[in-house]
Amino acid sequence: MNATTVRLGDRSYKIRIEKSLKMLPRQLKSLNLGTDAVLITNPKINSLFGKKVKYALRDSGLKVNPVLVPDSERAKSVKEAVRLLGAISRIDGKGKRICVVALGGGVVGDLAGFVASIYKRGVPYIQIPTTLLAQVDSSIGGKVAIDLTTGKNLTGSFYQPRIVYIDISFIRDLSRRDFISGMAEIIKYGIIKDKRLFNYLRDNRSAILRRETKALLEIITRCVKIKAGIVSKDERERKSIRTILNFGHTAGHAIETASGYSGYYSHGEAIGLGMIVAARISNRLGRLSAADLLKIEDTAGSYGLPTRIKRIDTRKIMRSLAYDKKFIHGVTRLVLPVRIGKVVIKERIPEEVIRRELKRLSSKITPADDR
Ligand SMILES: NC(=O)c1ccc[n+]([C@@H]2O[C@H](COP(=O)([O-])OP(=O)(O)OC[C@H]3O[C@@H](n4cnc5c(N)ncnc54)[C@H](O)[C@@H]3O)[C@@H](O)[C@H]2O)c1
Ligand SMILES: [Zn+2]
Repeated sequence: MNATTVRLGDRSYKIRIEKSLKMLPRQLKSLNLGTDAVLITNPKINSLFGKKVKYALRDSGLKVNPVLVPDSERAKSVKEAVRLLGAISRIDGKGKRICVVALGGGVVGDLAGFVASIYKRGVPYIQIPTTLLAQVDSSIGGKVAIDLTTGKNLTGSFYQPRIVYIDISFIRDLSRRDFISGMAEIIKYGIIKDKRLFNYLRDNRSAILRRETKALLEIITRCVKIKAGIVSKDERERKSIRTILNFGHTAGHAIETASGYSGYYSHGEAIGLGMIVAARISNRLGRLSAADLLKIEDTAGSYGLPTRIKRIDTRKIMRSLAYDKKFIHGVTRLVLPVRIGKVVIKERIPEEVIRRELKRLSSKITPADDR
């Protein structure tokens, strides 16, 4: 269908966006990945797509060795990583060249990529993302990690895959909640970089929610291009270019943490709220028009994302915020929208401003009400 390249010199790689797995064998053959594939996935994804992925991998000349991990964030643990390393080393042997295949959402992708980055100081890996979030975000860019008991993604590295193969047909089986969670990231791309995408999301909501192929192809392709472009320019987030991808994630992560990862808010739902918090702060600081703020809130709400913070104490969110690794040395730093399609990084936002907007979003006060 179409392809985008993440340009990183001799570590450059393609992101293929397809409607099926038909092109996978040919793509893999050209990469010379090795002799044995360790296919890392979870039981649910295995039962949905395991068989056809195994066929495609075999067609490319690889011997396939499936290894299953639990289905949840719990899989991104030290224990699972160690168990996987053991499994890989037992599959490995004389004359073999191992590669890792990550088949799943962000959880499987982050874990499998991390393990591939450390086994024998790094073996090739490929991403076959199966959730909307993984297809537009986590499978691209090489951030791989596991969680520690003290926090999410605390152990990891930058390790790029050799290819990302996106089969959009996988999205049909996704639960409504996981689909909407992925939509939050897509809305994010529209706000940070692409007004046309944002308008497309507003004009084609029912086709997108029905998961029509044409609509999925359009939005996934746009997001993949944006992420690939950003990663190509700032792989390790050193020039603040990649930082804009954190839009909505500072307050969003704090909301996620404060809800105790209880599942009350999914990642996307929390990020949706985080984007609204940032947009309201920007409006309050006179940087974002009321009309654009309304559009952001309205678009998030129209996709079924929450637009109010429920059941979480603002003080708890503020405490979580203080631990955020993006809040450098206690200095508040946020990505703020200034118009649809453009954001800025703003430092030294008074904590009081953040607290106030969080509080307002937890009650029913709209910015217009209290002017
Ligand atoms: N590396 C990065 O740059 C990056 C970026 C964003 C998020 N992440 C990480 O991604 C993780 C979240 O990823 P996620 O939202 O994909 O969650 P997930 O991997 O837990 O998947 C969500 C659920 O969907 C199921 N599933 C997967 N594909 C399916 C399909 N096609 N049909 C039906 N069910 C399917 C999974 O089994 C799981 O139950 C977090 O750990 C987060 O830290 C990483
Ligand atoms: Zn995210």
